[in-house]
Amino acid sequence: MVLIGATSGASGELSAELFAVGLFKGQTPEGLGDAASAAVSSGDFTGKLGETSLLYGQEGLGAPRLLLVGLGERERFGPERLRRASATVARRARTLKLREAALDLPALPEGGARAAAKAAAEGARLGLYRFDRHKSDAENHELETFWLVGDEQVLGGASEGAEVGQKAAWGTVLARDLANEPSNTATPEYLAQKAREIAERYGMEVRVLDRAGIEEEGLTGLATVGRSATNEPRFIVLEHRRGGDAAPVVLIGKAVTFDSGGISIKPSGGMEDMKFDMSGGAAVLGATEAVGALDLALNVVALVPATENLPGGDAYKPGDVLRMHSGKTVEIVTTDAEGRLILADALSYARRYEPAAVVDCATLTGACHVALGDHAAGLMGNDEDLIAEVQTAGEASGERAWPLPLFDEYTEQIKGDVADLKNSGGRYGGALTAGAFLKEFADYSWAHLDIAGTAYGKKGSVYTPKGASGAPARLLVEFLLGRAA
Ligand code: BES
Ligand code: MN
Ligand code: ZN
Repeated sequence: MVLIGATSGASGELSAELFAVGLFKGQTPEGLGDAASAAVSSGDFTGKLGETSLLYGQEGLGAPRLLLVGLGERERFGPERLRRASATVARRARTLKLREAALDLPALPEGGARAAAKAAAEGARLGLYRFDRHKSDAENHELETFWLVGDEQVLGGASEGAEVGQKAAWGTVLARDLANEPSNTATPEYLAQKAREIAERYGMEVRVLDRAGIEEEGLTGLATVGRSATNEPRFIVLEHRRGGDAAPVVLIGKAVTFDSGGISIKPSGGMEDMKFDMSGGAAVLGATEAVGALDLALNVVALVPATENLPGGDAYKPGDVLRMHSGKTVEIVTTDAEGRLILADALSYARRYEPAAVVDCATLTGACHVALGDHAAGLMGNDEDLIAEVQTAGEASGERAWPLPLFDEYTEQIKGDVADLKNSGGRYGGALTAGAFLKEFADYSWAHLDIAGTAYGKKGSVYTPKGASGAPARLLVEFLLGRAA
């Protein structure tokens, strides 16, 4: 367990095992002793982002170790670079097998100590993340305390920021844990159990529909995709009610705990990654955990349709026609376009809340990954203001989202031959025809995040290890923090 707190104190009084100080590119250290000055004047330490220099026995320093950490160019510094620098420090301290470390909190160009401490806390917490519960030889040393050091006058803001940052990061940790967990553990019922635990911790309402309940509710898309699975589908509803009579914000997350493609089966190479196809649901549960921990004065509803997508004698087939929860009919072109079917039902289920806004997130299309690469989620919707709000939250959280169009032509592309709609518009514009499909079920202010490229992958940054990134849990938290303010 890492404790992150803010503390004041001149470096000389600070007794942490390691004291870290950030330096910009070309910045000369002041009052850090001869070795630090020499590290810079020799050119060994340049201040490049993430660069480090570890020095010992600095006179006048309370800590036995001084770690210089590069912050990069001063003009380009901001929360995201601070997250990375902070993660670098925390990870280095852990590698050194230390129990505590302190970071002299750098100032951000805007936002003050609160924003700086928030970013630093997020970076440290997320940088220390590892998923090793299935390893027999898991490294068990953990950094226990990470101090953020500031002057007396910034302490209040810094403590607050550190707390918010930690709670937001904690939501991401939960999202990563859930998404990294393989499908033989992380079944729909496992996710339901996690939702019950969140509800228990924060006094939320929780409802879980089992297969019979899903059928009874008329969630045909979810029932149909989940029909052939031995691990039964679940429809998870989690309600945080702290906003009086205000209309709620509804979060929806796709949770296909394993997507084989079904009868339209995927090629076997790389299919193991399809355990991550519940990353949207994981992020929504993670964000909801953070909403509870932060006790946000809002009404928030989390909807997580959870199922496997498998072939079998009882599986749905190409050509089938479904009458969805909303009443619209859908012709199945491919059973591998299952995500939009379960999301469509969740979107029409959300109508009963008369929501202020609905944001869904889903590892929906390989096409979105092709379009934007690993570095941004695709962002679509029916409300320009909401789209801008989500984009801003993405920028602030470091979980970027980029707008993509939903022209009427994409809707034309998914008109059905024998039903109202078909579940695939073909190869071209795949992310957009998927978005256009969802749009048919959203008759309120709505935004959609296609996270196929950002939810998991190779190591993204010093605070995003290989595997699940937890995105967009912090984007969602940032969005809700904005709504609560
Ligand atoms: N879960 C996949 C999307 C996906 C693919 C996410 C690769 C991450 C990496 C989704 O259910 C799917 O299979 N989408 C199809 C849609 C197509 C059949 C219309 C796709 O993207 O190929
Ligand atoms: Mn699929
Ligand atoms: Zn899928």
